[in-house]
Amino acid sequence: MRTPPTLENRATPYLLIDLEVAEANARVMADALRNRGISLRPHVKTHKSTSLARIQRVLGADGITVATIGEAEVFIAAGFDDIFIARPLWITADAAAKLDQLTLSANLRIGVDSRRGVQSLAEQLQRRESIEVMVEIDSGQHRTGVHPSQAGPLALHCQSLGLRIAGVFTHGGHSYAGPGAVSRAAADESEALETASRSLEDHGIAATVLSAGSSPTALELGGGVTEARPGTYLLNDRQQIALGAARLDQVAAVVATRVISTAVPGQFVVDAGSKALTAESSSLVEGYGFVRELDGAVVTRVSEHHGIISYQGTPPPEGTLLHVVPNHICTVVNLYDQFITQASDPITIDARGHLT
Ligand SMILES: Cc1ncc(COP(=O)(O)O)c(C=O)c1O
Repeated sequence: MRTPPTLENRATPYLLIDLEVAEANARVMADALRNRGISLRPHVKTHKSTSLARIQRVLGADGITVATIGEAEVFIAAGFDDIFIARPLWITADAAAKLDQLTLSANLRIGVDSRRGVQSLAEQLQRRESIEVMVEIDSGQHRTGVHPSQAGPLALHCQSLGLRIAGVFTHGGHSYAGPGAVSRAAADESEALETASRSLEDHGIAATVLSAGSSPTALELGGGVTEARPGTYLLNDRQQIALGAARLDQVAAVVATRVISTAVPGQFVVDAGSKALTAESSSLVEGYGFVRELDGAVVTRVSEHHGIISYQGTPPPEGTLLHVVPNHICTVVNLYDQFITQASDPITIDARGHLT
């Protein structure tokens, strides 16, 4: 009988998680936010795994954030009952039917940033009083969200259609512009939420929840913020290191890969290409990831099953097992069915593929 593969002889590429590091990251974030009176609602689109979300819950998360109704469905089926879908959605009849069903077993919040979106939500839902609405505001990322001063009028519109308002939210994604942008983005999030909260008050509506957060800004959020939604912090990646938001020893997930060719001078090639690392470039760093074991070795080019690493020294021989710290872990996790662990069974990425 063959013995199960070890980390050393398992076929590559695979996604490796260090659970001790992930748990430490979960604990540090939860404790730091708790000390500042901010509740933690991690964005689980980073790992899409009910097992990892359970660890976050045990270590102090007060609820979870997801990106899609399908993700909400998976987490609710696994026993999570307090879920925020943190973006505007366009609600079709089948989406509304699912939301109606899900509100039977969970507290569900949903993001809105337009009158048309709110209208479709209110028209399609049969149990509209069972869902809570969060008005999204733009604090500087310029992706989605109304101007903070417009939060009140939109909240009033929601109320007039029978929808309940929980509060306002923003994502300080402009923190990813560079290490010098993080503190400003955190301050922007806090200030925008305060303005939005006042706008709601001016319209006679209380914003109970002021929700902010990205991984770089979560620990710098100012007073008034009641909830933070970091996601990447659990696993970390090359961008978080580049932003000064994580150290290399806080990276909990890497792509294990092997050298498959040294034939072309000045480089070597590993078996992790765009289908293992993504082809996502970053304004913060060159290439697609760096090799943890080899100083200065960056995956500079990818084709689907090849990661090309420019290298002037003697390349590691074919068959060498290496580990790449990818640029952006959320989109890398999205390519895999499971996390491989050192000591326990693989962890299924069970909410993967739920785009709607
Ligand atoms: C709305 C929203 N909230 C929270 C997050 C989590 O931020 P991060 O990936 O920096 O942890 C994201 C990430 O894209 C997001 O879009």
